[in-house]
Amino acid sequence: MERKKLFTQVDGLLHGGDYNPEQWLDRPDILEKDIKYMKDAHINTVTMGVFSWAVHEPTEGNINFDWLAEIMDRLYENGIYTVLATPTGARPAWLDEKYPSAMRCNEMGVRNHHGVRHNHCMQSPEFREKVRIMDSKLAERFAGHPGLLMWHISNELGGYCYCDTCRKKFQEWLADRYDHDIEKLNKAWWTTFWSHKFNSFDQIDPPYANGENCVLGLNLDWKRFSTWSATDFMRFEIDTLRSAGAKEPTTTNFMEMFYDYDYHYMKDFIDVISWDNYPEMHNNWQTDADHLLERSFNHALFRSMKRDKPFMMMESAPGLVNWRPFNKYRRPDMHELISMQAVATGSDTVQYFQIRKSRGSSEQWHGAVIDHIGTNDTRVFKEVAKLGEDLESISEVAGTLSDNKVAIIFDWDNRWAIDDAWALAKETKKFDETCMNIYNVFMKLGVEPDIISSDMDWSGYKIICAPMLYVLHDGVGEKIADFVKNGGQFMSTYFTGYVNKDLLANLGGFPGDGLSEVFGLRSEEIDTLYPEDRNSISIIDRAGKPSHSIEVRDYQELLRDVTADVLARYNGDYVAGKPAITRNNYGDGRAYYVACRTKQEDIEFIYREMLEHAHIAYTKLPAGIEKHTRYAEDCAYDFYLNCTTEEIVVPNVTGTDLITKDKLAGSLSLKGYQIAVIRR
Ligand code: GLA
Ligand code: ZN
Repeated sequence: MERKKLFTQVDGLLHGGDYNPEQWLDRPDILEKDIKYMKDAHINTVTMGVFSWAVHEPTEGNINFDWLAEIMDRLYENGIYTVLATPTGARPAWLDEKYPSAMRCNEMGVRNHHGVRHNHCMQSPEFREKVRIMDSKLAERFAGHPGLLMWHISNELGGYCYCDTCRKKFQEWLADRYDHDIEKLNKAWWTTFWSHKFNSFDQIDPPYANGENCVLGLNLDWKRFSTWSATDFMRFEIDTLRSAGAKEPTTTNFMEMFYDYDYHYMKDFIDVISWDNYPEMHNNWQTDADHLLERSFNHALFRSMKRDKPFMMMESAPGLVNWRPFNKYRRPDMHELISMQAVATGSDTVQYFQIRKSRGSSEQWHGAVIDHIGTNDTRVFKEVAKLGEDLESISEVAGTLSDNKVAIIFDWDNRWAIDDAWALAKETKKFDETCMNIYNVFMKLGVEPDIISSDMDWSGYKIICAPMLYVLHDGVGEKIADFVKNGGQFMSTYFTGYVNKDLLANLGGFPGDGLSEVFGLRSEEIDTLYPEDRNSISIIDRAGKPSHSIEVRDYQELLRDVTADVLARYNGDYVAGKPAITRNNYGDGRAYYVACRTKQEDIEFIYREMLEHAHIAYTKLPAGIEKHTRYAEDCAYDFYLNCTTEEIVVPNVTGTDLITKDKLAGSLSLKGYQIAVIRR
């Protein structure tokens, strides 16, 4: 595949991160040392201006960027590029004092006091006007600067505002969505129930904590609206920069498994996907390898949002964070492993929060490249510098892309709707976990899945898994049918196809929207088990005899009208003898249905079978090894990560290790936490 470089200015990978020199303007000696240390650490980029509003504009209208220009120039002279942020992540006191509408209202409709960050009202006209002035001036001053790589819009956009302006915007948004026809909305939200009918759009409130929050359609549309509102704010900032002459690419930093907004909607309005990766290593409930697989899932989620270019790991912590319940230091060599995992999965950057540790306030104990001790010989600094060197050794992977044939569907509104549904059991719904567990099974077979939405382009995929796809967007039933008809392997589970995009139950049997035919079955009941309840299923062997048995927990569906092949039947409880896993030949493909919850590794045979049907090669990797591949025009790069502390030998590896320069012909031996990048 052709390399797709993110930036023309930089040849290799980016290494660097958030840098807040505005905290040290009275210490020129420190600023000078920072540049020297950055060079020692092979750092070639910084992100500046994220929280600089109060320095940019200490009093209203008194805007001055000279401090920033000077530092940006000096960094550029030293080969260090800048990602420049708009400073809207936090507001100066004068702004909130004069324009209180900038401050968000909470879920009771009560306005916040000034303070903290990431808490502006996205729709406040007064705030927008201040943002417009600030962003225009930033672009006028810095667009086209040779050291400027890209624009970073605000910071970690998130949260909901329940103010009056947002309430009115919500009503307008709803009127638009329902063609200005309140009866359409009443139908979609099924408001005859509990006398919840509305006569006009202006009667509708956000789902206040002390108001209407039992109309599920309203709850869901509020989340969709809030996604729209944040995106609208982000687009406003981008448009402002563009009209003031900015031509550089844009991004905004996303967060792991983020819940508030549908990133699949937001992704289309920025040029490059970036996200902030904060693993909780060496924790007390998981192995490092299992935790890293969760990271890997997130990387895959963000990578898959734009498959035609690399993504960016915009933030990660050198050493440790300071906001987890327990803030443990990364053990030696973990820094390289976490950082290289990002590159392995498709990131062209390893960026940190932060270059230099703050002296005071809430993040003073958060990890940084340069610590309070102020030297370039700390353990963390040396690990960062070593990584910087290794990133230079593998610089040829920049611009290379993944090329995966397996995908897992992960829709945001499906997540929200499952959690909000008054059904199943609150504590065991576990949609995210189910998707991750399926991802893990493939990863352990050496096959990397993408994580996509039901609305994205599915071309190129041969296997798609859509566990618990409770909400079916318009046209998705047909899309699945076409995918299978044309030879795809599709897998789904219990709690699939129950409702349409408005959350109205599909009539005529589940899964709805034509899927009963694709799967060759209908689901009549979904039974919720208590956490300690167990059932089991028996896998039917080729001779039609029950072979081994597998444990069932949490959920079991009672199927009927099954015309598909039965791969497993229930052993116990009132569903004994009934089909539990099925496979339906449909057109040229196959549709698998798993009607109950099992451990994913217990049903690995299904995934193997799908891989075989799709002619995708796989080999079980040694436990604790992660493998990722990036492709260039003329070669491929296999990344092997040893996510354990033990030495592991990986068989069947040939090629050149870009870091050790070893030529491998047969096997690769990796020490604890060691990684290898093999060109083949
Ligand atoms: C987030 C923010 C940063 C910083 C880090 C700390 O990712 O974007 O400003 O607060 O967390 O981990
Ligand atoms: Zn608001």
